[in-house]
Amino acid sequence: MNKFANLEINGKNLKIPLIEGSENEIALDISKLRSETGYITIDKGFKNTGSTTSNITYLDGEKGILRHRGYSIEELASKSTFTEVCYLLIYGELPSKEQLDYFENNIRVHTLVHEDFKIILEGYPSKAHPMGILSSLITSLTAFYPESLDPSRSKSLVDLSIVRILGKFPTFAAWSYKKRNGHPIIYPDNGLDYCSNFLKMMFKLPSEDYEINPVITDALNKLLILHADHEQNCSTSTVRIVGSSLSSIYASVSAGINALWGPLHGGANQAVIEMLEQISSDNNDINKYIKKAKDKNDPFRLMGFGHRVYKNFDPRAKIIKVAADNVMNKLGIDDPILDLAKKLEEIALKDQYFIDKKLYPNVDFYSGIIYRAIGFPPEMFTVMFAFGRLPGWIAQWKEMRENKEPLGRPRQIYTGSKSRKYIDLEKR
Ligand code: COA
Repeated sequence: MNKFANLEINGKNLKIPLIEGSENEIALDISKLRSETGYITIDKGFKNTGSTTSNITYLDGEKGILRHRGYSIEELASKSTFTEVCYLLIYGELPSKEQLDYFENNIRVHTLVHEDFKIILEGYPSKAHPMGILSSLITSLTAFYPESLDPSRSKSLVDLSIVRILGKFPTFAAWSYKKRNGHPIIYPDNGLDYCSNFLKMMFKLPSEDYEINPVITDALNKLLILHADHEQNCSTSTVRIVGSSLSSIYASVSAGINALWGPLHGGANQAVIEMLEQISSDNNDINKYIKKAKDKNDPFRLMGFGHRVYKNFDPRAKIIKVAADNVMNKLGIDDPILDLAKKLEEIALKDQYFIDKKLYPNVDFYSGIIYRAIGFPPEMFTVMFAFGRLPGWIAQWKEMRENKEPLGRPRQIYTGSKSRKYIDLEKR
């Protein structure tokens, strides 16, 4: 294969080296473009721009393939637990039994958070969105572990920060929910596995026992695995770019949480349920909303449809649709919102607009329905996405630091006023 592409600019020929990935993806390496020609490239939304090379996740949007460290998402979702996938993403290999025990025990001893976090939590208004609380609490870990700010972090400090954040994240997530409900927080129960412990902190009431339901724990493991990493998406790119300034892992992950929050990214799962509820209260008039979604003058979009990368189907959506049916059956829940979602999907997939634009249900279309069946309120859905994405953010932050990637700093083409003279206030 030709290892160069030729670019002709102003009569000058430039050889652009090609970089080939392990799955034969090819990139033009333009790192010398500016120094040799004075030109830069523009790619709003980075639709054609690779920000890095990475060993963590492979996805092929045309074929609907998603693999972590070479393992398919289908196999991981059906055979692994979330903590195994965390280990795989962060350390590159599936753990042995001993490695997994060691990893899980290490996480377990870090589930408790400093009591002063309760004071911080108390300061929030009760209606505060849990994503805002979560991102603040995560970045506040830098105050309690200031050694994490030292840019010359040793490997052992990085490993310690990793189990700390994995241990404390579910505690903060559950506490942000308790805060919203005005209920007392529940402390971690380290006799439980990772997901069951989180469920207990979420749903146990002080006056009642909380019984672990394996159907719910399994469903949660699956949902978290399905969200665990997705290469250079908006929040992960944010984590990497914040980390590139040598910020701590806590500050970087906190930035990722904020990037995830918006409805075009992680906030979509909340938006899906809100949209379905709106359609349901509007006489289940699906066609009206399909029409709105197609209308260029109407800002309404079919939430949970479309994806920047997947253009045929989202493999996670396929798994989650089956999981949604399973969970509902096993829990004996008959949710009309699930039926409505299926009908909406069926109608949209036959509609020429959605066919032409290659718009399919994405992972968020059905995840909210399962979360709702488990008992999570909509404002917690995005928190659950963040919880799932946590190992991906950690793995990508770690990889970026280990590869000693440079400070992320894009350029721009300036389109504003040319140089002009300052006008004194009285003359304006
Ligand atoms: N409903 C209706 N039309 C949609 C749509 C949706 N959910 N998603 C995309 N489109 C249309 C756009 O209007 C655009 O039409 P145009 O070419 O006539 O201008 C075209 O499809 C391409 O959309 P665009 O926004 O340019 O694609 P993107 O790759 O930038 O956006 C998403 C991807 C995910 C942001 C987008 O599909 C979306 O907003 N989806 C709903 C939110 C969502 O579910 N997000 C979760 C992602 S996991």
